[in-house]
Amino acid sequence: MSAAEPSTTGPAGPDVPPGAAAQDPFAGAGYRSLIDWDARFRREDPFFGQVLGSLPEKSLADLGCGTGDHARYFAAKGFRVAGLDSSASMLADARKEPVPRNLRFVQGDLREADRALGERFGAALILGNTVAFLLDGADLQRAFAAVFRLLLPGGRLLFQMLNYGRFYERKERQLPLTVNDTAEGTVVFLRLMDLREGGRVLFFPTTLLWRPDDPERPLEIIRARRVELRAWGPGDLQKALEAAGLRDVELFGSMEGKPFEPLESQDLVVLARKPLDTMLSP
Ligand SMILES: C[S@@+](CC[C@H](N)C(=O)[O-])C[C@H]1O[C@@H](n2cnc3c(N)ncnc32)[C@H](O)[C@@H]1O
Repeated sequence: MSAAEPSTTGPAGPDVPPGAAAQDPFAGAGYRSLIDWDARFRREDPFFGQVLGSLPEKSLADLGCGTGDHARYFAAKGFRVAGLDSSASMLADARKEPVPRNLRFVQGDLREADRALGERFGAALILGNTVAFLLDGADLQRAFAAVFRLLLPGGRLLFQMLNYGRFYERKERQLPLTVNDTAEGTVVFLRLMDLREGGRVLFFPTTLLWRPDDPERPLEIIRARRVELRAWGPGDLQKALEAAGLRDVELFGSMEGKPFEPLESQDLVVLARKPLDTMLSP
């Protein structure tokens, strides 16, 4: 979850049946409306140009694609794109607009991305803290091994997550608050984190509706979730990437390509490559 910026569209999605949240923590999240996508793409575009400029093929898998906004963005740039996500509700939002011919959305698990997608790509992206959803070392290893298999030789993996080292060091327990004016009222997106021992993170994405002029209900919780995450650090990630056969690992501190500063950077952005001399298995 990179810093979501104020958006101009509606707030949280529809109510969801009890129990659905445990299976699909993004059910009813209205995730798209919590992020200012134009601002995010403007910020990320030069870095994407820099790191995805010389791929073996103009094709890309967006793993943990959520509402599919990056997938659509790259499809509009002429890439062949597949967006993969485990959340039915995220994918339902992703498919709301007509899907162009060079884009498809698939429901499946990142840890089996190659099997779920069934073809190879010039690049794989895992953006917006999705890697932190992989809770143990075996999950992380399986995900990177799947990425290795789905990349063409010379293909690149780019992923972005929070730099939890900084949050642990500073004992910071929140991400920046975002406040949006929407047709339904002013929506406040509050993201609290409880940082536990051993890199276990409890994350509480919460949507509030703020009505300054309503004396009875000035602030209402529209949606609150408790999601378990894992605070992977650069060392864990580098080891798992190398074990999966990925090489040329580079670290950045933001999606603008700033240098990674372990105690300063808000994000940890990692770039790796599948070696060119890798044999293509059948
Ligand atoms: C915070 S969202 C990020 C969405 C988008 N990539 C972005 O940058 O805004 C994390 C996404 O990862 C998906 N996800 C988490 N674990 C997954 C897994 N094991 N396999 C596939 N998708 C997963 C969730 O369903 C969710 O859509």
